[in-house]
Amino acid sequence: MISKTGSYPHLTPSPSRPYHFPRPAFRRAHPIPRSAPMRLDPVSLPDLEARARDYMPHNVWDFVAGACQDGVTLRRNREMLEAICLRPRFLRDVSKRDISTTVLGHKISFPVMLAPAGGHTFVHPDGELASAKAAGAAGTIMGLSTSSTYSIEEVAAVATAPLFFQLYHCGEGLSKMLVRRAEEAGYKAIMLTVDTPLPSSKEVDIRNQWERPTGGHMGNFRGHDANKYLPPGTEISDFWERPPTIPFTFDQIPWLKSLTSLPLVIKGIRTGEDAAQCVAHGADAILCSNHGGRQVDGTLSSIETLPEIVDAVDGKAEVYFDSGIRRGSDIFKALALGARAVFIGRPIFWGLAVDGEKGVRRALEILRKELDVCMGYCGYTSLDQLDPGALILPPEMSDDVPGYIQELRALASLRDDGILTQPEFDARKKQLLNSNGR
Ligand SMILES: Cc1cc2nc3c(=O)[nH]c(=O)nc-3n(C[C@H](O)[C@H](O)[C@H](O)COP(=O)(O)O)c2cc1C
Repeated sequence: MISKTGSYPHLTPSPSRPYHFPRPAFRRAHPIPRSAPMRLDPVSLPDLEARARDYMPHNVWDFVAGACQDGVTLRRNREMLEAICLRPRFLRDVSKRDISTTVLGHKISFPVMLAPAGGHTFVHPDGELASAKAAGAAGTIMGLSTSSTYSIEEVAAVATAPLFFQLYHCGEGLSKMLVRRAEEAGYKAIMLTVDTPLPSSKEVDIRNQWERPTGGHMGNFRGHDANKYLPPGTEISDFWERPPTIPFTFDQIPWLKSLTSLPLVIKGIRTGEDAAQCVAHGADAILCSNHGGRQVDGTLSSIETLPEIVDAVDGKAEVYFDSGIRRGSDIFKALALGARAVFIGRPIFWGLAVDGEKGVRRALEILRKELDVCMGYCGYTSLDQLDPGALILPPEMSDDVPGYIQELRALASLRDDGILTQPEFDARKKQLLNSNGR
């Protein structure tokens, strides 16, 4: 008699053994191979993060993951991104989508760039060289930190896509030297980080007695006579990251601009007032960022401050976003709220720790895929179609919806009620966005 399970009589159910469990004797005769555990590629950034944590010494992990004080801002960055909901729209042809864009005139294949961050070599010996190659392979831009292990010139030599140079103001002499070298090496913009007016040690690093590897942040000063620019009695090697913080104020922006023909991005802006002042003093782009919650605790999340900054900048400069981007839908949300592109910080370290250049490429490809799918599901085929109407904002952010978006929503209702035709709606939308600098 043929058993119910064909040629597998051991699986035949019987009243005393109703479930299809192989008998122990059969299991012994046919063991399930238990070779190496299956290592799938990480399928999401949280996956990559979990794997990176396994691979990193705990003090390096803490340095990368670390936040200022209680991590309130760090958590809020994620919580508020997650609190924004998408408004998926269907019955549109989304079979062809284009998620490329430009930043400061440079084409990038999708709107994600690598944020400047010191210490890539803490997690992989190829450090910034690997990250720059990964950015090039993904067709996007990397920001190189003042505190990188490899120098401006070493990274430029391997890069295949445009680079931005991130400047921590180190006093007039040193800043001038760094900006000139970046321009000569072919960098395409200077990103001035302004949200670290004082040193701010992370408590976890103090507890861990974390010692940065010697020179790990000093690639840009190696082989250059940096000491001549420093106060008497100090040497560049006295500082682990950069010389002590030297004030930089709005009225020095024109001085910085006068050193170079490169455009200036100002990184770390958290209010509309500061954004407007930066633009008035000559900034070409603003990066809305809270440094991933690393510098001052208890602020709003970065995504909450984005609408205010976009409003204040009023189309006079490009606005970018970072702090908390972990999903394609996060990128979508930032772009719908007015950012032109986003940066990622910690995910670079996760990618490097897991698989060097390939790991960073993996992180970028995951985000690219997720954003592309999110666009399709929300009914969009190109980034210039995005506006806050694609989102439902949590109560904490609803007051921030600019007036023109409210008008846009009213127009959409008129269109949905058949009072406006689609072409009339499109024309009014274009007019409204143009008159609001979008
Ligand atoms: C380990 C680490 C080092 C960083 N170093 C710098 C730096 O040297 N200069 C800078 O402007 N920002 C630095 N940042 C901040 C990033 O540029 C970026 O603003 C932040 O990581 C974005 O948040 P995310 O990590 O949630 O993506 C650093 C971030 C990390 C995680």
